[in-house]
Amino acid sequence: MSIRKIIEYPEEVLAKVGKPVTKFDEELKNLCADMFKTMYDAEGVGLAAPQIGLNLRLFVMDCEGIKLVAANPEIVSTEGEQSGQEGCLSVGKIPAVVIRANKVRLKAQNERGEWFEQAVEALAARCFLHETDHCDGKLFIDHLPKLRREMVVKKFRKEKRLK
Ligand code: NI
Repeated sequence: MSIRKIIEYPEEVLAKVGKPVTKFDEELKNLCADMFKTMYDAEGVGLAAPQIGLNLRLFVMDCEGIKLVAANPEIVSTEGEQSGQEGCLSVGKIPAVVIRANKVRLKAQNERGEWFEQAVEALAARCFLHETDHCDGKLFIDHLPKLRREMVVKKFRKEKRLK
């Protein structure tokens, strides 16, 4: 198991629609183990494959007691609304308020390739949506109004220069 380098905005891979996961083998298991390790090391609650430079529809998460691998994730349904702070390991964890659905049902494959569906609420729902977005080449800042998006990007660039 190793910690992978986290790819940051505005790298191109973060804006690409991921390719489906087709092989559910030892290599995928090792990749997921690396992704969990990388996510915990960065103190995140979710991490998608594009964030380590892989153009794949795959994410791992450990949020509100829900720990899972989701390959080829699809949002089956959403309900309600929540407003809350969100951040991303690829955008320096700069927080911004994003409006999301409050209840989300996700369909995906686990690391053995078995399909499952899971319905969650609140923060875990936010996480499902955020990570599935990554698989579609979208970042949370894409949900922000233009000015707030620019503010987040500016702050991120500034903090990066200071590091
Ligand atoms: Ni993210």
